Amino acid sequence: MTTVSAPGKVYLFGEHAVVYGEPAVPCAIEKRATVTAEPREDDHVRVEAADLSLDGFVVEYAGATTDRPDVDVPQPLLDAAMGYIDAAVQEAREAADAPEAGFDITVESEIPLGAGLGSSAAVVVAGIDAATRALGEPLDRRELADRAYQAEFEVQDGQASRADTFCSTMGGAVRVAGDDCTELTTPTLPFVVGFDGGAGDTGKLVADVRALRDRYEFAADTVEAIGDIVATGEELLREADPDAEPSDDLVSELGDLMNINHGLLSALGVSSRSLDTMVWAAREAGAEGAKLTGAGGGGCIVALDRTEETQTSLKYTPGCEDSFRAELATEGVRVE
Ligand code: PMV
Repeated sequence: MTTVSAPGKVYLFGEHAVVYGEPAVPCAIEKRATVTAEPREDDHVRVEAADLSLDGFVVEYAGATTDRPDVDVPQPLLDAAMGYIDAAVQEAREAADAPEAGFDITVESEIPLGAGLGSSAAVVVAGIDAATRALGEPLDRRELADRAYQAEFEVQDGQASRADTFCSTMGGAVRVAGDDCTELTTPTLPFVVGFDGGAGDTGKLVADVRALRDRYEFAADTVEAIGDIVATGEELLREADPDAEPSDDLVSELGDLMNINHGLLSALGVSSRSLDTMVWAAREAGAEGAKLTGAGGGGCIVALDRTEETQTSLKYTPGCEDSFRAELATEGVRVE
């Protein structure tokens, strides 16, 4: 039996623009998905997901996911969660050259589904790593990140960047631009997350931004401007001492860039009333900056604040269901 965990992430900068080759900087956070894989005698896959923000379900199937029996879980949620687990199993089978391998898989996750915190990437990364290790064929981290990306790419019909899966695999802060993925050093930033209890439809939001970008040159310029924000923010991180507390100037400048980044994402139509409300609540509470994280439409915002004010204020903000401090996860995927 092999148990592996992988972290979720927040986007410091760059979501959506990363789809068009602009750079993005996601940062891994200490909210993890944990996957246990136990090889079986037959080629079946049995999945038990106690907490994927679902009510909990157990499914056993052989072969394709379409053979799955009916279970008492809303079908779209089940399809989404099972799609990722299925794709992870296929990647692990291929990597270990064991097309008939069966598994008992258990998934536990602290990361809300579809809320911009990289829940699916964490499940896929931990799933492939647990399954290949269980077969005695562990992958190096670059191959793991690559296979996790392929799995997401397939499930999301080609609407995926490498950002979430690379960040979840490596941990810390990373820079992703197209196929170019590098690890960055960063001091520990004081992230605070607000969650509206909902989820955005990533596929539709990405398609909507694409349509705007195709139609209006100024929308394409907006995407490019997000890339410029990322380049500026990345430079600030590179100049900072990763072993020291971040300076006031650094936090303040990163905060300004986050605010501009949120404004541009809003201009592209991917914010929502609840995300904007949480962003403004954070700013009014004294956060250095705040923006949505991930695809948008609903889900989470991320703010920078060293004090307790933002988290406390978000707690009492209508429409904010949960708020928490999010420590940078310096370790990516790991065996538990
Ligand atoms: O909502 P998330 O965490 O899956 O992030 C989506 C980020 C996008 O840039 C919109 C799409 C992508 O795959 O990079």
